[in-house]
Amino acid sequence: MSLGAKALTFSEATSSEAFAERFSTGPDSNLPRLIAAAVTHVHDLIKQFRPTQDEWRKVIAFLTEVGHASDDRRQEWVLLSDLIGASALVEEINTRRPKGATPNTIRGPFFRNDTPERACGSSISLDGIGEPLAVEVQVNDLDGLPIGGAEVVTWQANSEGFYENQQPDLQPEHNLRGLFRTDAQGHFDYRSVVPSGYGVPDDGPVGRLFADTGYPLRRPAHLHFVIRAKGFETITTQIYDASDPHLSEDALFGVRPELVSRFEPADVDGRHGKAADLTFVMVRAKPGRAS
Ligand code: BEZ
Ligand code: FE
Repeated sequence: MSLGAKALTFSEATSSEAFAERFSTGPDSNLPRLIAAAVTHVHDLIKQFRPTQDEWRKVIAFLTEVGHASDDRRQEWVLLSDLIGASALVEEINTRRPKGATPNTIRGPFFRNDTPERACGSSISLDGIGEPLAVEVQVNDLDGLPIGGAEVVTWQANSEGFYENQQPDLQPEHNLRGLFRTDAQGHFDYRSVVPSGYGVPDDGPVGRLFADTGYPLRRPAHLHFVIRAKGFETITTQIYDASDPHLSEDALFGVRPELVSRFEPADVDGRHGKAADLTFVMVRAKPGRAS
């Protein structure tokens, strides 16, 4: 793009066009197209709110801090995307499913892709601390037919609301994580402990900013699942404990009525505990779309 005599003069009235004139997005370039759209919105925002130079420097300082707080172990940018509802919106737009199918919710930052495979009926609680929980899982298709051989990864917080990778010195490696496979009837079961809800991390720039505004940072108690089966859309979701008092104010907008489950009082291997009976319903993958 040449910036010859015909280039627009930059002004409040022409700012977005002056930028667009220089920024070539190309036909198949999603990232530049998104950036170009975002720039238009940033210009509009500045024209509307008219920040002083000092106020704008504070915005830049905040974003700089978010970048510095992000590394391989902690993704502060993801937390920002989650807290402003952007992650939930992207999930919803991309995984609209027919009635009766299990909806997706965000995966969150505590997933590990090296989760060990465990036998049906075994316990994912490696330290045995907490109220016992017996979980029955059924994976079906939309017609109610069982899906055998589905791979189900689950992970959850402990009874104090912490994931194993948040407390490497206190919890055993891979505590409260497991990879299971459904049998020919689309079923498996496992033992765990009842998870507690928790606050999203507030020790970084994003959590601090939101906490300062009084934004609710609680997540109701939940179990995470990623469910994969050949020929079906992958389900990434969470199941919420119906008894959690914070169900309606999830910081990350993840709760859907279909994802709330009653953990009923139960005898779990001779101990007083709870039982969860969960059914996930998968949708056939559309041809040509990654599942
Ligand atoms: C989670 O559900 O594990 C989670 C998601 C986003 C931020 C913090 C936690
Ligand atoms: Fe979680």
